[in-house]
Amino acid sequence: MVKLWIGEHAQAVAEHAVDLIEQTIKGKPACVLGLATGSTPLKTYQEMIRRYREGRLDFSQVTTFNLDEYYGLDERHPQSYHYFMYENLFRYINIPRERIHIPCGTPQDIEAYCRHYDQRIAESGGIDLQLLGIGPNGHIGFNEPADELQAGTHLVRLTEDTIQANARFFPSIDDVPRQAITMGMKTILSARKIILLAEGEGKAMIIKKLLESAITTQLPASFLRLHPDVTILIDREAAKYL
Ligand code: GLP
Repeated sequence: MVKLWIGEHAQAVAEHAVDLIEQTIKGKPACVLGLATGSTPLKTYQEMIRRYREGRLDFSQVTTFNLDEYYGLDERHPQSYHYFMYENLFRYINIPRERIHIPCGTPQDIEAYCRHYDQRIAESGGIDLQLLGIGPNGHIGFNEPADELQAGTHLVRLTEDTIQANARFFPSIDDVPRQAITMGMKTILSARKIILLAEGEGKAMIIKKLLESAITTQLPASFLRLHPDVTILIDREAAKYL
């Protein structure tokens, strides 16, 4: 079932997201969180850091798995999602390094690496709470609109839309990797609870489609409507067409 929560502004969305994260951690200190990148979760990460500093959140037993990584970027690359996660969250909280998992962007054997990533998620007991953003084209993680979607972690070719949307983080569009490693749809939909965040007018149309269109591989986020516990947290601007 999809629950929709509309906040007055992006900060309210972030605070509500962290309320749900806090509930999960307090209910199960050794929980498994699925984490996302992009500009949307930044305020949520700042709020997590704030509550950690206030002593309200303890990450000492938490395990995390990130959704995706650009293929070809190693973890020291400033545009890699590894770098992003350490710079925007992990270095400020007390999560043990060995419990942090982010797909490797430079695996030697891609197929074996992807199976290994899924296996580690399964061995951890599965994801308790998965945080998601949404691409303007409806992708989640890097599961792009296509005729077919993949179940497990896999290498994906990014669409032109995504390359253009993400070019703002790179010196030029030519620097944006054309491929990425992402958790698949089954991995994401197996999370016990899912929170999808969106803010700003630029996401208003895709949020409307996500809630109202048919469930189709051409809009991967529409599959979230099949999940029993999804909360969509958006601000007023992203709710403009609802
Ligand atoms: C990237 C990530 C997605 C994210 C999307 C939206 O493509 N792979 O996980 O949801 O960007 O990013 P933003 O939050 O910057 O709009």
